[in-house]
Order: sequence, then C-alpha cells, then structure tokens
Amino acid sequence: MSDPTDIAVLASELEDESPIAILQRALDHHESDEIAIAFSGSEDVMLIEWAAQLGRPFRVFSIDTGRLHPETLRFIQRVEQHYGIRVEIQFPRTEAVEGLVRAKGLFSFYDDGHEECCGIRKVEPLRRKLATLSGWVTGQRRDQSPRTRRSLAVVELDEAHQGKDGRPLIKWNPLCARTSADVWDAIRAFDVPYNSLHDRGFVSVGCEPCTKAILPGQHEREGRWWWEEATKKECGLHQLNVIEPSDD
Ligand code: ADX
Ligand code: SF4
Repeated sequence: MSDPTDIAVLASELEDESPIAILQRALDHHESDEIAIAFSGSEDVMLIEWAAQLGRPFRVFSIDTGRLHPETLRFIQRVEQHYGIRVEIQFPRTEAVEGLVRAKGLFSFYDDGHEECCGIRKVEPLRRKLATLSGWVTGQRRDQSPRTRRSLAVVELDEAHQGKDGRPLIKWNPLCARTSADVWDAIRAFDVPYNSLHDRGFVSVGCEPCTKAILPGQHEREGRWWWEEATKKECGLHQLNVIEPSDD
C-alpha cells in the first residue's frame, strides 16, 4: 500500500479505533522484521505495552543522541528487562558529531538553533534505521503540539523518508487522537514502568540540554527548545509535521 489516497481512506477508517487496534493493524500490515516502534524513552512506552499485550513479535528502536538524560537510558534498560526485549539503539555517526563539536562546541544549538545538531544526532540516524523498514510506529499525538501536530493522521505515507530497498515507508501514529491524560491513565491502569523524569516535572522528554521541566499550566512543548519559536519545535524526526506558521 503506497497510494496516498488508499492510506488516507485507511486513516479515516482507523480514526476512532483504539491504539491497540491500530497497532494490531500496523503489525498485520508489515512483515514482522520490517516494522518497528520508535521509542523516545517517554510515555510512548504504552506502545510497547500494547504490542506486548498483542503477543506478537515486535521490534523497538531508540536513537541515542549522546545527549539523553541518564534517567532515560536507565529507563530504556528497565523497559528491556520488563518486557524481555532488546531495544535497538541507533547512534549518530561519530565523524559527524566530532566535526560539529570541534567546530562549534558542545552547545552550539543555543546560539544558532537546534537544526544542525538534531540533523546529525537524530535525523541522520533515523534515516538509516528507516531504510531497513517498510513501516514505523510513533508515539506522536495531536495534543503534543497544536502548532505542528494538529493535522496528524493515524497512518500516513512518510514522504520525508525512504524504506527498505528504496520502497515507500508507512508511518503509524496509534496515539494520535489520544490526549496526554488518556496515555497516563493507561500507564497507571496497566502498571507500566515510566521514566523517573516525569516525577520531577518533565512532561515531554528529549535531550538533556534541550528539555526542561514545566510549570503547572504550561504546554508540554514549552519544555522543549524553549529559546526558539513554537513553530520551530520539531527536530526533523517528523518532517511531515512542519507547516507554515498560521495566525492562530
Ligand atoms: S521530537 O521530534 O520532538 O523529538 P517527541 O519527543 O515529541 O519527538 O516524540 C514523538 C515520537 O517520536 C516518540 O513517541 C517516538 O515515536 C519518536 N521519537 C522521539 N525521539 C525519539 C528517539 N530518541 N528515538 C526513537 N524515537 C523517537
Ligand atoms: Fe542536539 Fe538538542 Fe537536538 Fe538533542 S535535541 S540532537 S542535543 S539540538
């Protein structure tokens, strides 16, 4: 299935389905070694819980940018132990990281924006991982960013990336219509392990220098790249979301 019209029809069919039903559909659609869950070490752990409940083989990968919180790395290991899985850790290219840091220092993103560092530490490793797959599953939700994720579909053709052997790649977003509260209700209901950073006021979790805890009433995205405009708060993992600024 690579026709955008077919995928749009499927997305509208699945819009009101539960995340576990969407995940099941995704796992049914692909060869089991050609689809993987992209795990950020945050509340997207629910995707792993639901995949485990389905009792099917599934793959999980995380991009270790080299700048994640130690809590996130420990959490990834805890998830491995809890579910008896190995999370496939994807690293950036050494030469590219060294080149950036030697030229501009360790915190260049505060001066000239996060794109270059994210490009090297997240986007390129993601592209390499996706080139081994025909589908990937993300924990994105519309409520995570009213500016960049409000039009997110349950399933979409990932036109920003190529899949295995240059084939089209399908991106599944089973949580897209859920709220943060829905996901946290499920984490509590199923007694799912979670990242200890959440106990310290972190809502959205990314790299340590680019993520901070938020205050009551702040939107979760305000804790990410807080020195930049709201419309730029996408690191490039989800390039389909980047839209022109609007008036609202
Ligand atoms: S980001 O683009 O701003 O960094 P966000 O933190 O909202 O993404 O996470 C949305 C989804 O992107 C996650 O649920 C996960 O599927 C994927 N993702 C984000 N960071 C990573 C990562 N380091 N490794 C793998 N997947 C990730
Ligand atoms: Fe670099 Fe920050 Fe992007 Fe992480 S989130 S890759 S540290 S700019």
